[in-house]
Amino acid sequence: MSRSGRDGRGPAVGSPAPRRSSRLACALFGGLLLAFAGKGPAESGPQAPHPVPRPFGVSPSVTTRSGVVVSATAEASRAGAELLDAGGNAVDAAVATALALAVTYPQAGNLAGGGFLVARSRDGSLFALDFRETAPAAAGRTTFAAPGADSLTGGLAVAVPATVRGLEEAHRRLGRLPWARCAAPAIRLARDGFVVPGGLAQEIVAERKRLLRFPGSRRLFFPGGKPLAAGERLVQPDLARTLEAVARKGSDALHRGPIAQAIVDDVRRTGGILTLLDLASYRPLWRAPAEATFRGLDVVTMPLPSSGGFLVTSILAQLAVAGGAGEPDLDTPEGVHLFVEAARRAYADRNEWLGDPDCVAVPLARLLAPARLAALGASIDRARATPSASLPSVEARAEREETTHLVVATPDGEAVSLTTTLNGVFGNASVVPGAGFLLNDEMDDFATRPGVPNLFGLVQGEANAVRPGARPLSSMTPALVLDRRGKLRLVVGSPGGSTIPTTVLQVILRAAAFDQPLPDAVAAARFHHQHLPDQVSVERGAVPPAFEAALRALGHAVQERESIGRVHAIEVLPDGRLVGAADPRGYGAPAAARAASAPRSAP
Ligand code: GLY
Repeated sequence: MSRSGRDGRGPAVGSPAPRRSSRLACALFGGLLLAFAGKGPAESGPQAPHPVPRPFGVSPSVTTRSGVVVSATAEASRAGAELLDAGGNAVDAAVATALALAVTYPQAGNLAGGGFLVARSRDGSLFALDFRETAPAAAGRTTFAAPGADSLTGGLAVAVPATVRGLEEAHRRLGRLPWARCAAPAIRLARDGFVVPGGLAQEIVAERKRLLRFPGSRRLFFPGGKPLAAGERLVQPDLARTLEAVARKGSDALHRGPIAQAIVDDVRRTGGILTLLDLASYRPLWRAPAEATFRGLDVVTMPLPSSGGFLVTSILAQLAVAGGAGEPDLDTPEGVHLFVEAARRAYADRNEWLGDPDCVAVPLARLLAPARLAALGASIDRARATPSASLPSVEARAEREETTHLVVATPDGEAVSLTTTLNGVFGNASVVPGAGFLLNDEMDDFATRPGVPNLFGLVQGEANAVRPGARPLSSMTPALVLDRRGKLRLVVGSPGGSTIPTTVLQVILRAAAFDQPLPDAVAAARFHHQHLPDQVSVERGAVPPAFEAALRALGHAVQERESIGRVHAIEVLPDGRLVGAADPRGYGAPAAARAASAPRSAP
């Protein structure tokens, strides 16, 4: 599909030219091309399915010859499928799904957060859009210096909202149907309501203290003074009016005029520094996608200010050196050891060096030099964990995990992988009165007090300090995987804060490199290491005690946590059918466009 020939809408001024997937190069990473040694199972034909533990049950999945959407709610996935049915393309469907998530998944779906989108068009062109929030112009090193300055709740936590600007830009460059058509399902859902699922009701109760502090949130989530209960219908007339304005005027509805004024008033009333000029000035940026190759697969993901592309590249390069054919086998303690040792080394670099590349000098060429990554991989001891203290770095701030991911793919090879966030669950907890949506707490993704030892005496990353207009470092890792001919193989992403890159990579390794059925790969037990704290995170009850004991015997501290990530993914089967799989850790669902089979559970 030729961009310039469609509706006279050409690429944005200053946009990188779309890259054809047949050209294996990574502009951001200085042309780094990781050639991986060894013949993996992907090169020797499909494998028998692995006996993968499924600690959270089976993944709701659908197999179809038509387009498919997977997101955190069934309503939002259906909104995307509706656009495909109406003749829209993958970007139209992604915009409709993202807007519908702002209605049906207020924990993380949003109008006033930010995100990243990686897309493939029908002709194989690849795109990466950065619609990460920015620090307000008045923000700086001292913004959070005062005791009690809160980067999680209330006005000071709010970075410049970016989501609607980002969706609008993606649609302007790549969409097919009119913008207002993409907004229609979300407007309907806000106006007519949807049935509150148990997961939302539980999170409202869990966050009641924060939400009850703000009148807009009290009104929306505690009608009559009681928390919304599962099974109630949530109707959002204020949000419907806001979405109608967005449908009519585009992102200016939020970034200029009365809704912008309502945002600024709410932020200022609750202690923040955001201005009308911050809102009016926000611009999303097209970036060159980050790429790494592994066993003939091309992993296409997000460059800085996401750390996702960096971590994926570093970990895969190390595994190529440290692992043999068929490794890492994530169903064994030895395979998990190999994986987390590579992650430990990659996160040490991330925490020390990465920040907004438009504001700080990030030595990417040095950090990702093939010889350096090979040396990192060679330093992995297969029989013993390397103490993180011997790999000096700063400790990153603990990241909030409530984000959401959606994927869309069509039979003609279009794909969108989009991760969006308010940062913490329900963002800064304040619904803008009269406008009906929550604001983000993305300022917490900066190292808010760099150079100042925290409670534990740790000094955090200078590269990710608060700077006016800077984008906070992110972990969001929307990804596409292409085969050696540039054909789409996998569309994948996850929420989960700092665990996102390792989560996404484990699903890529299982489903694309080692040919496990996608629903199994999504449901399988997951592991995480981020250098500091020096521990392997393991999902509670996910693996037998002997598995954890084996990790301890290798020298790892093991920390159990409830769950890691919530992946939504689509796989393209060799016969061209698409498999959409939602994570059983959440309550997301796939939706297929017309003429598809009904959703079913994996066997
Ligand atoms: N707010 C989560 C992230 O960007 O990684």
